[in-house]
Amino acid sequence: MRFDIFTLLPEVFPPYLDASMLKRAREHGLIEARIFDIRQWATDRHHVTDDIPYGGGGGMVMKPDPVFAAVESVLGASPSCPVILLTPQGRTFTQKVAEELVHQPSLALICGRYEGVDERIRQHLATDEISIGDYVLTGGELPALAIIDAVSRLIPGVLGDPSGAQDDSHASGLLEYPHYTRPAEFRGWQVPEVLLSGNHAQIARWRREQALLRTLQRRPDLLQSANLSQADRDFLNSLK
Ligand code: ADE
Repeated sequence: MRFDIFTLLPEVFPPYLDASMLKRAREHGLIEARIFDIRQWATDRHHVTDDIPYGGGGGMVMKPDPVFAAVESVLGASPSCPVILLTPQGRTFTQKVAEELVHQPSLALICGRYEGVDERIRQHLATDEISIGDYVLTGGELPALAIIDAVSRLIPGVLGDPSGAQDDSHASGLLEYPHYTRPAEFRGWQVPEVLLSGNHAQIARWRREQALLRTLQRRPDLLQSANLSQADRDFLNSLK
């Protein structure tokens, strides 16, 4: 899968993309990331990419021409891939959205900066707008990395363990069960006995119940749309 990133801060991407899982995924040819500096498509002498807002008011607005020129010169006049604008006004990024995007052969990610982007970028260039949550960052670079990370780890082969993504919090609609590793006792705190038992059926049942309990305690809203068996419902009812 290919990610084409359009940004005014190209230098922030390599440190993350060159580390850990994503580095391995790139080396194995599972993902490719191309980083394009929008400033290179600004035609004036000072490579200006922002301007004051029509109508007045504070802040600067990202100019449309360098962004259109960058995307169109890389992907052509009508790109065949989704062109995603990262903005706090977009639809909220969730695990479901990551699962939807992973089916695309490539994604273009436009990182907004300054106080906003010229509306014509939204209307006539972007085909999708995504927010990573209800808070405002200084730009779309961290959101772009968050999307690249969440989508990449769904690509078969990117995670070392192929079952790795299945039990993740949110993948099943529930939060994940608690994890423990050695030592079995740390500062007097014991690993739950059942995990040391070797009884795989009991362990699976304990994990499922812990996932249900944790979701009920922390994110009861998720239970509305989770895929629950009768045994799950009986367990939840027994807690009430
Ligand atoms: N740009 C600034 N804040 C953002 C957010 N929460 N999501 C996506 N892009 C953004």
